[in-house]
Amino acid sequence: MRTWDLALPVDRDDAAPVVAQLAQAISSHIAAGRLRPGERLPGSRDLSRIVRVHRNTVVAAYAELAAEGWVDTSPSRGTFVSREIPAALRSRAAARGAHAVRAPGYPIEPGPAPRARLPRSPGALVLGGGVPDLRLVPIAALARAYRRALRRPAILDYGEPAGEERLRAAIGAMLGSTRGLDPDPARLLVTRGSQLALTLAARALVRPGDVVAVEALGYRSAWEAFRAAGARLVPVPVDESGLRVDALEALTRREKIRALHLTPHHQYPTTATLPAGRRLALLRLAAAERIAIVEDDYDGDFHYDGRPVLPLASNDPAGVVIYVGTFSKVLAPALRVGYVHAPAEVVSRLAEHRRYVDGQGDRVMELALAELLEDGEVQQHVWRMRRAYAARRDALAAELRETFGDALRFEVPAGGMALWCLTAPDVDVDRWAAAACERGVVFEPGSEFAFDGAPRAALRVGFARLAEQELREGVRRMAAALPAALAGARSGRPASRPTARPRRT
Ligand SMILES: Cc1ncc(COP(=O)(O)O)c(C=O)c1O
Repeated sequence: MRTWDLALPVDRDDAAPVVAQLAQAISSHIAAGRLRPGERLPGSRDLSRIVRVHRNTVVAAYAELAAEGWVDTSPSRGTFVSREIPAALRSRAAARGAHAVRAPGYPIEPGPAPRARLPRSPGALVLGGGVPDLRLVPIAALARAYRRALRRPAILDYGEPAGEERLRAAIGAMLGSTRGLDPDPARLLVTRGSQLALTLAARALVRPGDVVAVEALGYRSAWEAFRAAGARLVPVPVDESGLRVDALEALTRREKIRALHLTPHHQYPTTATLPAGRRLALLRLAAAERIAIVEDDYDGDFHYDGRPVLPLASNDPAGVVIYVGTFSKVLAPALRVGYVHAPAEVVSRLAEHRRYVDGQGDRVMELALAELLEDGEVQQHVWRMRRAYAARRDALAAELRETFGDALRFEVPAGGMALWCLTAPDVDVDRWAAAACERGVVFEPGSEFAFDGAPRAALRVGFARLAEQELREGVRRMAAALPAALAGARSGRPASRPTARPRRT
């Protein structure tokens, strides 16, 4: 295998002999771990060409390194990094500063709070609400389209920060048909997932100290995008119908609200659909107060019962809605393709910001996706997934009911990828989630979505990612983990509410 040329600085004006300099540079690479035990070093002819010294100089440097124990040389096979470097040599090299510096020599600002993730065992069943079944992604069609896109050398050039025109047109057609939005590509910006869309919207909307209202419970990644732009976040409560618009209205009497992040189709995490009355009230309020509504429609394609509700953006004469969508749920999160639909002036402003955030998207992927949309491949996949996910939703709901009875209360949602379940107050849901992880099943405790991070008697259980029999096994493991989370499990007293016990384990 051809390897990289080593950086081996040799300074002929230095007082130290060139042989010693070369030996010192190679031993530094070995001591720092950049050259690994047993690794073959370049032949003397090659190295003399790389370093531009006489071949005899290299031979002499290798001989010095061999004498010290850094390398082993064999006339027929070549020169190799020694497998056993004497400890004394290592520490001498370390003292000379040959090891990489690991701590920064300057202050860095605190970042967003790190996400606490429970450790997952390799075979764990993930009942997470955020990821589709990756085994069903039309990979062969995607690979073919990607290869075709890659065959055009021009696609490897710099591109427009708003995204490939063909993809914008295809997404425009999709949103025109399915969401009732204006299909004009000038109103569309392609991003790397919703996350970049939220980041750009935050940059365009927020001046440091501006107030941004967010749903609580809600989506932490959106909160952090607005926080990073200097926003002061104010939580607005949600109930079983989604955002409490009356609470937002009360807030506007005390604070000037710049923007609102909202998931009206399937509220994240509770799955509630914002009813028509609240939608109208919200649009009116936003128009009167000049509030930008960032409408995050992350899983709008997955609606199973009745007609899907059109987004706020489809009924927005005042131009207050910035609509954000993604292919992370429709296809796969790793594609990193999302989009913003907004007035053309807003799209241009976001594109200007985007130029200095990551320049442009993945042009090859964008072109490939455009082809899959034009050919109807994505539409067909959505149809297939809708059927599969509706059956999975029903299977999970039946299994949870059968297993936990009244101990878990939930409504079967008309769409989305997860069930939102309430527990009896004597269940420590965070403990349950941790115990479940140990038993090889992952679900999301309510605290993950809480603005204050405090425990909630609620959990989100996803159904899209796993097949029906896997879901059933997941519920069985959840039930087995539950006793560890009941009040009394720690004190040895019986649980105060027998209803919190699983019916069967
Ligand atoms: C509320 C919400 N918005 C957006 C996304 C998608 O994010 P992205 O498109 O960056 O993958 C998710 C994924 O979990 C989500 O839950």
